[in-house]
Amino acid sequence: MSRRLQLLAAGDAASVLPMMRRFYRHFRYPFSLRKQGAAFRRLLCEPALGRAWRIEEGGVVAGYAILVFGWSIEYGGRVAMLDELFIESSHRNRGLGAWTLRRIRVAARKLDVRQLLLEVEADNLRGQALYRRLGYRDTRRRLLARRP
Ligand SMILES: CC(C)(COP(=O)(O)OP(=O)(O)OC[C@H]1O[C@@H](n2cnc3c(N)ncnc32)[C@H](O)[C@@H]1OP(=O)(O)O)[C@@H](O)C(=O)NCCC(=O)NCCS
Repeated sequence: MSRRLQLLAAGDAASVLPMMRRFYRHFRYPFSLRKQGAAFRRLLCEPALGRAWRIEEGGVVAGYAILVFGWSIEYGGRVAMLDELFIESSHRNRGLGAWTLRRIRVAARKLDVRQLLLEVEADNLRGQALYRRLGYRDTRRRLLARRP
């Protein structure tokens, strides 16, 4: 089946927001159109912030992926975090997640990204297995967070 990553631009948010809501529901993360919708729209308007793609399979929308940029002295320049990756349940287990991750790696190299980073829930064992299979390694560092 044909697969395609469609780079998203300003004005494309509406085609992804219903899936984004499902992604947040899947993890029971709070979702609001005002907060997540606005942050997503801004990303699509400001390419310096990152990239977003709609994943299509057989001509239908099958998921989305978001890469956001950062900067690291340690890694020698631009780094990118895989902020969100979602494959619709009807399209899972066919290698589409792995295919998407390989394509994103190619895109990241073209964008001069020196290191790809991602967060994965400790209990998301399937996600972890997929990432490990594709060469992602546990940094053994703790990611800490707080509001500024
Ligand atoms: C995690 C997620 C992105 C994986 O997407 P996917 O398309 O199902 O992933 P893949 O099909 O590439 O790989 C998953 C499984 O299919 C198997 N597979 C890979 N290629 C295959 C192929 N060509 N044919 C059949 N099976 C295949 C893999 O071995 C893997 O098996 P596993 O269940 O033992 O891990 C998807 O399940 C998802 O969106 N989940 C909800 C949100 C989420 O967890 N996002 C990640 C946040 S960190």
